[in-house]
Amino acid sequence: MAHDAPQKFHPAASAGSLAPGEGRSVDIGGRRFALFNLLGQFHAMDDSCPHRQAPLGAGFIEDTRVYCPMHGWCFEITTGACVSNPERPVRTYPVRVENGEIEIYF
Ligand code: FES
Repeated sequence: MAHDAPQKFHPAASAGSLAPGEGRSVDIGGRRFALFNLLGQFHAMDDSCPHRQAPLGAGFIEDTRVYCPMHGWCFEITTGACVSNPERPVRTYPVRVENGEIEIYF
């Protein structure tokens, strides 16, 4: 996907396929996002840990945080803030649900 393409919402997954407390990695046109369901609210961030690029969608979720599956860096799912290393946040994206589909804006 060209970097200068206009930003818009892209379908990512069906809302019913991601239960509360779950996360998943999704690929949209070759770009990877970590998608999370926190108490019925969906959140998206880059699926690449700023430490060594492990997929955060495969991380361990506890409350509002996800722990990187590789070395355990901890991130706030709603903001992308890195609890383990405040200098290395991960980028988050707006998410909406349209017609039962989770969509990510980028
Ligand atoms: S790759 Fe995520 S903590 Fe090392």
